[in-house]
Amino acid sequence: MSVLIKNGRIVTAVDDYFADVFIDGETVAQIGKDLAVEADTVIDATDRLVIPGGIDPHTHLDMPFGGTTSADDFETGTLAAAHGGTTCIVDFAIQSKGESTLKGLDTWHAKAEGKATIDYGFHMIITDMAVERLPEMVKLRDAGVTSYKLFMAYPGVLYVDDGTLYRAFRQAGDNGTRICMHAENGIVIDEIVREAVADGKIEPKYHALTRPTRMEAEGVYRAIAIAEVAKVPLYIVHLSCHDALEEVKRGRARGVDVVAETCPQYLLLDQSWYDRPDFEGSKWVMTPALREKWNQDSLWQGLKFRDLETIGTDHCPFCFKGQKELGRESFTKIPNGAPGIENRMSVIYDEGVVKGRIGLNRYVELTSTAAAKAFGLFPKKGTIAVGSDADIVVFDPNKKRTISIDDERTHHMNVDYSAYEGREVQGWSETVLSRGRVIVKDGSVQTKGGGQFIKRAGAGELLR
Ligand code: URP
Ligand code: ZN
Ligand code: ZN
Repeated sequence: MSVLIKNGRIVTAVDDYFADVFIDGETVAQIGKDLAVEADTVIDATDRLVIPGGIDPHTHLDMPFGGTTSADDFETGTLAAAHGGTTCIVDFAIQSKGESTLKGLDTWHAKAEGKATIDYGFHMIITDMAVERLPEMVKLRDAGVTSYKLFMAYPGVLYVDDGTLYRAFRQAGDNGTRICMHAENGIVIDEIVREAVADGKIEPKYHALTRPTRMEAEGVYRAIAIAEVAKVPLYIVHLSCHDALEEVKRGRARGVDVVAETCPQYLLLDQSWYDRPDFEGSKWVMTPALREKWNQDSLWQGLKFRDLETIGTDHCPFCFKGQKELGRESFTKIPNGAPGIENRMSVIYDEGVVKGRIGLNRYVELTSTAAAKAFGLFPKKGTIAVGSDADIVVFDPNKKRTISIDDERTHHMNVDYSAYEGREVQGWSETVLSRGRVIVKDGSVQTKGGGQFIKRAGAGELLR
């Protein structure tokens, strides 16, 4: 099968020009002005941007967490992603405590295989890395899992101690792979939570009030210090606030190989959302918590001036009814996480490009290219170039829509609310291609399934 995308404005992380794109099979075969080629499908991209498919480096599909399981599985989650212009995700597989990481990987392969519509890779969440287990990390690398997430948060669940951090960091560095870090001092936070609950402070807003930004900053500082000693490239996930960003800047200034991701929710939403009545604040209970609004300016500055590297969603949806409600008696029981996989490309275009905070090239870099480079997917993914996978979005930069659970054109996630309910956005993914297949066109699904596991390259390596 072949596809010709005509008359579009091609924007990558560095280029911006008018040309046609010819796709032969799964990859881009030619790019040029007025290409004289026959194609099975012709897409007119006049007045549209032609951009690399979004890459979301942070999703939790079908993940057991907080006494329940995230509401999107690999079928619904990847379809919703496709609707929103994301054509590749890196999801988090989990090692059960005391068990092999390779077994965890098998479990996640079984969850995704045959269900995903877009391509996917896995990070491995490490919950136990005894010395005897270290060789598993080499096997993971050979299996294409070239990044690992460890947690300073969630004591008793995903938390690991500093010794485990150091061991895993050292091995990841030796392997030529990357560490992802959930950086928050969960031990101190648990004490603050205990004090709050003892005082009868149990409403959703106390989720934020018991997680000071300084405890995130401390985690970032500590992770950077350990990575510096262990000599491993570090990726701070879901960075939420000014204080934590300052620590990233300090680490980078002294030459540590650390990059950081933020998420749309920290750029667009703030702590006041927890004050919504009737337990509604629980919809935004996530970790790190939403912060005071002034932090958003620092994050946008960080994106603009390259102290922040990527924008992932941390998509971890739980329905309000039956899932978030598990925490009606206490915020400590609310499953942590919120939906967003479908919204990222539009809300960041709207708040970033339309509002003049970032340029078009930076938009593409932040939503696609930088994640591809950080996680061993580039140049197969993350750009539009001859030989690259034809993961492409024909994006309408002028189309306005109001995101709502009640509008089936704007909500395909398997969750009973939207974190961005009622928000009007400008910028819409009109036609979405995954390895040359048109998977979404004008809001309707053209092809389901067909997503493939991508064996990723190591940190700083190219993927062919
Ligand atoms: O609240 C969140 N972020 N849930 C998902 C797990 C994590 O920490 O990324
Ligand atoms: Zn996390
Ligand atoms: Zn996460």
